[in-house]
Amino acid sequence: MCGIIGYTGERSAGPLIMEALRRLEYRGYDSTGLALFDHGSSFFVARAAGKIDQLASRVEGRLPAAAAGIGHTRWATHGAATDANAHPHLDPSGRVAIVHNGIVENYEELRTALLARGRHFASDTDTEVLAHLIADALEAGRDLPAAVRDAVARTTGAYALVAIDRDEPGRLVAVRVGNAGGIVVGRGEREHFVASDLAALLPHTREVAFLEPGELADVRAAAASFCTLAGEPLDRPFEAQTLDPIAAVRGRYKHFMLKEIWEQPDGLLDAVRGRYLLAPAHVALEGFPFDAERVRQFTRVVLIGMGTSWHAAMVGRHYIERLARIPAEVDNAAEFGYRRAILDEHTLVISVSQSGETVDLLAAMEVARRAGCAQLTVCNTPGAQTTRVADGTIYMRMGPEIAVASTKCFTGAMVALHAIALHLGRARGTLDPAEAEAQVAGALHLPAAVGEALLLAPAIEQLAKRYAAYENFLFLGRGLSFPLALEGALKLKEVSYLHAEGYAAGEMKHGPIALIDERMPTVALAPSDELRDKMRSNIQQLKARRGRVVAIVSAGDASLSALADDMLTLPDTDQLLVPFVAAVVMQLLAYYVALERGCDVDQPRNLAKTVTVE
Ligand code: F6R
Repeated sequence: MCGIIGYTGERSAGPLIMEALRRLEYRGYDSTGLALFDHGSSFFVARAAGKIDQLASRVEGRLPAAAAGIGHTRWATHGAATDANAHPHLDPSGRVAIVHNGIVENYEELRTALLARGRHFASDTDTEVLAHLIADALEAGRDLPAAVRDAVARTTGAYALVAIDRDEPGRLVAVRVGNAGGIVVGRGEREHFVASDLAALLPHTREVAFLEPGELADVRAAAASFCTLAGEPLDRPFEAQTLDPIAAVRGRYKHFMLKEIWEQPDGLLDAVRGRYLLAPAHVALEGFPFDAERVRQFTRVVLIGMGTSWHAAMVGRHYIERLARIPAEVDNAAEFGYRRAILDEHTLVISVSQSGETVDLLAAMEVARRAGCAQLTVCNTPGAQTTRVADGTIYMRMGPEIAVASTKCFTGAMVALHAIALHLGRARGTLDPAEAEAQVAGALHLPAAVGEALLLAPAIEQLAKRYAAYENFLFLGRGLSFPLALEGALKLKEVSYLHAEGYAAGEMKHGPIALIDERMPTVALAPSDELRDKMRSNIQQLKARRGRVVAIVSAGDASLSALADDMLTLPDTDQLLVPFVAAVVMQLLAYYVALERGCDVDQPRNLAKTVTVE
């Protein structure tokens, strides 16, 4: 949430920051702004409520030549999405400009104290108090890093910020306080960058260093140094990242969401290549940190995630129980800490996250760390915070995901969890070799199966035209299809703002059926598994109440054709792998309904790609 960029070097900072803000806009798009030092006596500051185009038209032809600056794209927490609340924020004297991501929890108390001293505030944000506190420390003779540390010491909360001082304009100071909001420092030729995430830096450099919570980066064009918030120097080497900058470009696709849906066959190919091996069937998992002895000691697996990653974790639970035969549970990461779960060193906690920066997930991982659990993380973002906390990382290998609605990282997370389950099962001797062979062959077939599911796009586009006018939807599934029902409903509400509910089909009669009439269609996931006949009964119950039904069925199953109003047929896969092809249908349905309704698919209202505030 909130994108941050800072630059110091020999290039013109203004255009560079504007371009980086476009890359960061997916993190928040309530407002954007930048501050540049233009060698005059004050910063050039421009801010605009709304998306980057608003700012672009405001600064057109006005950007001064500047060798350093900071920029921000906002997801509002404190204060409405207005020009005044847009970042950067300055202290009243205009000496310090800052951009901030996260929350200063005690800002009211700090603000009240500053008001009592006659200070004025130009915004309703929590951020502005930090600009005052940093400027006060500078006026007291501290240098910028020390002033930032002093200010941070007076706050509570979790956040990241970058500050720039008018009296020393080529210097940027960035801090990471707590788990909210990452900071990555990029190194170039006589230039340095600071950003909330790697995507902003990819066109400029691959040499990066990440800040851990409680760390500060002191960045100038020629060099960057690092220390703790207590001022102790840190040795932080820069590492080369291999992410592909081209992958973060929309190309011929109308939306990133559509591009990422279509990237799934290639992404899954990367995910299975070199990992799923035959003769004998097994999985080679680089990044898996536990030996067979340790794996045999696990008595329980707890999977955690948020949103789409939580739904992937639900599918993962089935894989772990069925293939590794270890008791597994799944928890919404935000709730995990509240239930005082019984954890010990024999519990394997698997966290799932596209970004690896989700604040609720990091908090849950901290609970697990304190309890001494073994930790594995499934992540798509190299070097993200979850990867640094867990004992080992299984990367999704899906390439950068830019659209706010997660698509390819849902299938990417599921395949990583499937691989982990096979690996655990083999190490524990609980996996039947014939099953292993079927699963490895099935996984190797996934890129093709998902590619085939994509061929349903024209049919789904037509279906979406017929259903886009409905205001309410129900999604039903059983077993492995229950998480898919949740995911289908989530995707639809995110990108089309329609009311959609996902339910375990068995739960339908316990309440939700009261909603059913001819105005509430149901998407019923009814693949040909051992639960298909029960789904058929549910569909009959819906039809008896005049509900419209779109049935998602397996290849060769015509048994629902007389009952359902519409049918989509999934390509052939192993039963355990049906969620992959069903996911594509859910994603395309949400996409085309949103398109039909004229919604902003890549930047749905109120959302941000990475949730770094509680
Ligand atoms: C849904 C979506 C969110 C994320 C959730 C977790 O389309 O994108 O629900 O899945 O915010 O994010 P990560 O996976 O980055 O931890």
